[in-house]
Amino acid sequence: MRRAVCPGSFDPITNGHLDIIERASKLYDVVHVAVLINKSKRGLFTVEERMGMIEEVTACYGNVQVEAHHGLLVDFCRDREIPAIVKGLRAVSDFDYELQMAQMNHGLSGVETLFVPTSPTYSFLSSSLVKEVAAYGGDVGHLVPAPVLERLTRRMAERAAEQ
Ligand code: PNS
Repeated sequence: MRRAVCPGSFDPITNGHLDIIERASKLYDVVHVAVLINKSKRGLFTVEERMGMIEEVTACYGNVQVEAHHGLLVDFCRDREIPAIVKGLRAVSDFDYELQMAQMNHGLSGVETLFVPTSPTYSFLSSSLVKEVAAYGGDVGHLVPAPVLERLTRRMAERAAEQ
């Protein structure tokens, strides 16, 4: 069984993430999507909400498993015997930090990182930008899957009502 992991914060999952997960799902028997928990960051969505959205939009691939993880990614990989991390590379600016993480992870445990070039359609896309545009009422319907758009619109309305 060939396994890989697509890790991230996924707050929320975007079409850019989904593109990478879909492509990984064609290369591997099982793709684990690891939602990494960062307790020092308050997300827009809870980890459970993020996982729910990812499960909904990846169910069609049939070989994607979604899990949350608190701690090192290499420990997630070791516990599940996952030899490969798949990451999207949007631009050269991503490369420096991604290379550091890939080399650190390889040094820690021998896990390999495979970089997939992001589709040019999504090379500017990040969850942070999606949240910023959505917070000011901008249209992000072409940047996130429909179920995510629905929840994002609702959450932004809740946040606006709180202020
Ligand atoms: O979606 P993000 O926030 O860009 O993803 C970054 C993430 C979560 C993949 C990265 O921060 C990570 O792997 N965190 C887990 C903790 C860890 O293993 N840190 C050491 C990295 S060398």
